[in-house]
Amino acid sequence: MARIIDGTEISRVMRAEMAQQVAALLAVGVTPGLSVVLVGNNPASQAYVASKTRACETLGMRGQTLNLPEDVSKDELFAVIDRLNADPAVHGILVQLPLPAHLPYKAVLEHIHPDKDVDGFHPQNAGLAFVGDPRAFVPCTPAGIMEMIRREGISTRGKHVVIVGRSLIVSKPLASLLMAPGPDATVTLTHRHTPDLASFTRQADILIVAVGKQNLITADMVKPGVVVIDVGQNRIPDESSPRGYRMVGDVDFTGVSEKAEAITPVPGGVGPMTITMLLANTIQAARQLHESRGAQR
Ligand code: GUN
Repeated sequence: MARIIDGTEISRVMRAEMAQQVAALLAVGVTPGLSVVLVGNNPASQAYVASKTRACETLGMRGQTLNLPEDVSKDELFAVIDRLNADPAVHGILVQLPLPAHLPYKAVLEHIHPDKDVDGFHPQNAGLAFVGDPRAFVPCTPAGIMEMIRREGISTRGKHVVIVGRSLIVSKPLASLLMAPGPDATVTLTHRHTPDLASFTRQADILIVAVGKQNLITADMVKPGVVVIDVGQNRIPDESSPRGYRMVGDVDFTGVSEKAEAITPVPGGVGPMTITMLLANTIQAARQLHESRGAQR
């Protein structure tokens, strides 16, 4: 039976470490501040955003949500981002995705000042991360997965990591982080057009699945002793739950955990780590801004 990689517990340890970093910034008069922009009222997005700002407040940071109507125009949204870009009390800006279809999400993400782009989705940060520059904001989910792997003592050097999915938010930055000097993994990226997916996943020493499809990975698709990181967040109807649904990942947890050495659960695996890394990026933004102000004097 696989060991469970407990993202909630790793997050608890990391947030205690980060509380000290926040205290050090408070001591020099800086309160790290995150502003989250939420367009419309998608219930899943509302829940994510509420947990992001709540997590800020529990660390002594400032967390603010700006709720804009579903039919907000691009110019109105840009004006809000302009205001946040200029506000010295705001260190991190996050526009919650997905956006309504009438808003050009790439242009919106590029409108956020790269120094405040704690999601790491601006092309400037994507480029800095790709070349391994420490000033980059690394997107929260890949950063959280790297922390989990490191803190669990899972060796990546020379290991074959197979990633299922090719998203800009998770898989592409993750591939670049894992193949870099230090982690030193051999990385294979697969996606919906990869023929015979199982022939790749069976080769994985570490299998990372970020697609959004329940039961995509079953026990016959993995080798014994694999480490599995399940990034999937799928809502499935469940009348026995008070909310009427429950969350499952992309991996058949019951079957695969019989063969795996270690596995992340859903919920309680990658999800809490993503929010923890958002807090870490906001602290990094506040520190970098504070240091650059000091350097200007
Ligand atoms: N929606 C789901 N996950 C994320 C995330 O990490 N960042 C943003 N901006 N939106 C999301």
